[in-house]
Amino acid sequence: MTWLITGGCGFIGSNLADLLMGQGEQVVLLDNLSRVGSQDNLLWLRERHGIDWSFVQADIRDAGIVEKTVRQFKPKVIAHLAGQVAMTTSIQNPRMDFEINGMGTLNVLESVRLHSPNTIVLYSSTNKVYGSLEEMNYREADLRYELIDHPNGLNESLQLDGHSPYGCSKLTGDQYVRDYSRMFELRTVVFRHSSMYGGRQFATYDQGWIGWFCQKALEMQDSKSLTFTISGNGKQVRDVLHARDLVQVYRQAVAHIETSSGQIYNIGGGMENSLSLLELFKMLEVITGFPMRFERLDWRHGDQKVFVADVKKARNDFGWMPGVSKQDGIREMVEWSREIFHGN
Ligand SMILES: NC(=O)c1ccc[n+]([C@@H]2O[C@H](COP(=O)([O-])OP(=O)(O)OC[C@H]3O[C@@H](n4cnc5c(N)ncnc54)[C@H](O)[C@@H]3O)[C@@H](O)[C@H]2O)c1
Repeated sequence: MTWLITGGCGFIGSNLADLLMGQGEQVVLLDNLSRVGSQDNLLWLRERHGIDWSFVQADIRDAGIVEKTVRQFKPKVIAHLAGQVAMTTSIQNPRMDFEINGMGTLNVLESVRLHSPNTIVLYSSTNKVYGSLEEMNYREADLRYELIDHPNGLNESLQLDGHSPYGCSKLTGDQYVRDYSRMFELRTVVFRHSSMYGGRQFATYDQGWIGWFCQKALEMQDSKSLTFTISGNGKQVRDVLHARDLVQVYRQAVAHIETSSGQIYNIGGGMENSLSLLELFKMLEVITGFPMRFERLDWRHGDQKVFVADVKKARNDFGWMPGVSKQDGIREMVEWSREIFHGN
């Protein structure tokens, strides 16, 4: 079957493409290569899998090219991952953010509706669609905030509350993808992701906090006087999910599309793989042997004190559970960052 992956040269896209190509699937990637590291990911895929797959260098905002690509390949599945991914950038340029995340998603859906209605559409939404979650009850422990009333994490019944242009534009895409299943009977699935990490993630200050702080930890090793900054007090918690687990979500949801079609899933590492910044720093200090020296800045707009996904629905519907522990995953991430950014 043919998979079209928009944003296929990004972090999630290149991991998904690598899995699918390794399993002998036909794969088409569409990406405008705007993300730092996306060219490296394209080369990496070419090195590993040769040239027997297609790459379309195009912008998701270009409705004509998206339509042409869908008509040409009539993919069995589209994983729509192309996106403006940074909350900070969305505040600097809300129009661009909306055009990519909102209109770009509509371009994909319309192409499928008009030209390939049997195509399954998977959409990578975000926990940011639930807003800042200020109304929750929290306990402040030494290294983390804790959700008092949700010991197993948060499920999909939470109230929607787009916060920041990024939160709103992703929520727009999320709701359109869901609604095209209801209104036009397309087979679509929405995944609301927590923080993800793993190889091929070229993290920046604005996006990809696990990868970013792994890079900072390695810089601490090189130059003991260096400090870095964090937003807030470092006790904010996310459930972190490794790329190897993530790509299985997409695989398994497609394998069980009769059940997953039209559904929305909170996807993350779950309570066992929840981690605050301060806890991550402790882990990194053990791995590198160097202290993490940082300064605090103000909180970021709408930053959730805790988001941990309750992944029960995904487990029940298509048998998915995270398998990579945060301990193993973070060690691997440090090694990958060392190889890529420090050349050893
Ligand atoms: N990584 C996470 O922790 C996380 C969490 C929640 C949601 N998501 C969502 O998952 C998706 C993929 O995330 P990622 O971490 O792989 O991000 P990424 O930035 O690594 O990948 C996105 C890819 O899309 C491409 N792209 C950006 N704008 C484009 C455009 N206008 N036209 C065509 N291509 C474009 C980029 O070049 C990049 O290769 C995004 O939509 C993001 O919102 C990611």
